[in-house]
Amino acid sequence: MKRIIVTGGCGFIGSNFIRLFLEQEPNLQIVNVDCLTYAGNLENLKDLESDSRLSFARVDITDPESLQNLFLEPVDSVIHFAAESHVDRSILDSGPFIRTNVLGTQILLDLAKKASVRKFVHVSTDEVYGSLGANGFFTETTPLAPTSPYSASKASSDMLVKSYCHTFGFPGVITRCSNNYGPYQFPEKIIPLFISNILEDIQVPVYGDGLQIRDWIHVTDHCSGVYAAWKSGVAGEVYNFGGRCELTNLELTTTLLNLMDKPKSLIKFVQDRPGHDRRYAIDCAKAEAGLGWKPVISFQKGIADTIRWYQENREWVARVKSGAYREYYQQQYGSRL
Ligand code: NAD
Ligand code: TYD
Repeated sequence: MKRIIVTGGCGFIGSNFIRLFLEQEPNLQIVNVDCLTYAGNLENLKDLESDSRLSFARVDITDPESLQNLFLEPVDSVIHFAAESHVDRSILDSGPFIRTNVLGTQILLDLAKKASVRKFVHVSTDEVYGSLGANGFFTETTPLAPTSPYSASKASSDMLVKSYCHTFGFPGVITRCSNNYGPYQFPEKIIPLFISNILEDIQVPVYGDGLQIRDWIHVTDHCSGVYAAWKSGVAGEVYNFGGRCELTNLELTTTLLNLMDKPKSLIKFVQDRPGHDRRYAIDCAKAEAGLGWKPVISFQKGIADTIRWYQENREWVARVKSGAYREYYQQQYGSRL
């Protein structure tokens, strides 16, 4: 059976991806490589615990000695999700972002190159393109202009992947997706944070004027894009994924409050994020034409399902909120609410 290394499989998108991948590919073996940071939770894959096609290695991708052991047996391909992923945290401390997102990617690339993997899918973000004005969309040829330490670290890793493709003929494919939402998202990102606050009648902190725009995509649509990139993405190419669903943060917040039948008085405008990007919007025509992919989950359905998931999984939220997250939450929001 072919072995696929998936990094970051205990996080939000990685865990959703592993579920989708095993459904699509019954005869492959996945090694989930994750060091379980505050955002990584083995519980996210509890339903697959007894699936013999999935194994777990608690390994930090910045540790080459441990990581290389996973390449002792043949590896067909690598699908690389592991990252520090939250912009606010990168503003507080960029160190872990550079270590994992840049150094970790370089270490993984070297091992994958040495092992002559057939494909390496690098999961990146639309944030590498910087911020848009009122009009236009990011395409794959939009110049990289990252503005936060998070997006700068992701752009650096994208450029490393590109350089390996160019210099070594490495079979790297880069995907860049817009903002995801759905089950198992750590409650620090806006949608799970706001849903879990609203469930407890706690105010929701809207940064600045709340008129920043994000293009929302359901995590399953993103995962099917990464799957399509793994199946038929061309080495050296970049594919953008987006949900064609632009909303201001205020529109998003009002939608959540309406769907949850809670008053607007739960909105609390707080100090803006430093360097806050104004608008992201994706043109995903290349992925549609080249990969036969398109987003299929409407925001209306996806957000209703997501609210229901958080309602039904309040214990999961409580568990992941304890520990390291609680400390961070206090530091970040304690003085504002
Ligand atoms: P997440 O923070 O939920 O999960 C990240 C996972 O990586 C966690 O399980 C964590 O334990 C693991 N990890 C972190 N550092 C590691 C290390 N040094 N070694 C091994 N494992 C490590 O992130 P996510 O939202 O699932 O994002 C996954 C990927 O998708 C990231 O690369 C991110 O940049 C990208 N992305 C995310 C979004 C989004 O909206 N969340 C959008 C576009 C792209
Ligand atoms: P976030 O979920 O952190 O994703 P990203 O910064 O990667 O886009 O934030 C999405 C948007 O929501 C962004 O414009 C910042 C805003 N936001 C708030 O207004 N309040 C919050 O508490 C959070 C976490 C985000």
